[in-house]
Amino acid sequence: MKIITAKDYAQLSKAACDIVSDKLKKISQPVLGLATGSTPEGLYECLIERCNMGEISFRNATTFNLDEYVGLDETHPGSYQYYMKEKLFNHIDLPIERANVPSGTDADLEAHCKAYEEKIREIGKIDIQVLGIGVNGHIGFNEPGTSFDSRTHVVELDPSTIEVNSRFFDSIDEVPGKAVTMGIQTIMDADEVVLIISGENKADTVAAFMESDVTEDFPASILKKHPNFTLIVDEAAYSKVQTKA
Ligand code: F6R
Repeated sequence: MKIITAKDYAQLSKAACDIVSDKLKKISQPVLGLATGSTPEGLYECLIERCNMGEISFRNATTFNLDEYVGLDETHPGSYQYYMKEKLFNHIDLPIERANVPSGTDADLEAHCKAYEEKIREIGKIDIQVLGIGVNGHIGFNEPGTSFDSRTHVVELDPSTIEVNSRFFDSIDEVPGKAVTMGIQTIMDADEVVLIISGENKADTVAAFMESDVTEDFPASILKKHPNFTLIVDEAAYSKVQTKA
């Protein structure tokens, strides 16, 4: 595990942007694994800026998002399809047909999950997977207790996740109770994984991550076993770690 400590959120976003930009420059047909939520917003702003300046291009890229809420389609402002268009896809030169986000509205979600995995397998592998972390240690929407062998599947969201994510909705009652998520094995199959964590509200989570054994009770702990894993944290998020790297 490589750890990059950034001074603040801006520096963290730039560090993540440098890593993703490097992939876009070096790989002829790069495959990116993308996350939503608050944390990657600065990364996406940076990627948009560099794309507009002609420094990087997504013309030959393919993207796979981690997750989507069950029941929300791309027109719902709380959906991750909507988020991705707003925060990234509408502003870069990525051919939209190569932007993959799991569907939360497919009539047969189980079949959709299998097809999503198959699509990743067909393309080969995800070259770089960007992740955020939930306060409970979830990655994607793989909540504590999820099998490390899991692949794309439908999950019941943890009450704590529903509460934390209610900030993206008008009320907590609007937050779907289920989601489709890439599995932990899907994430671990990526060639490289970058986990970005920012802010004081994640300080306990980062301390727990650093101290945790590799256990399904803390899903992100498996990343310690990934051969090409980078943790990027800002000082606020790193503030409760006892033994600093
Ligand atoms: C989002 C995702 C989640 C988030 C996590 C942190 O696609 O997979 O695991 O990364 O919930 O969210 P934020 O960044 O909003 O704290």
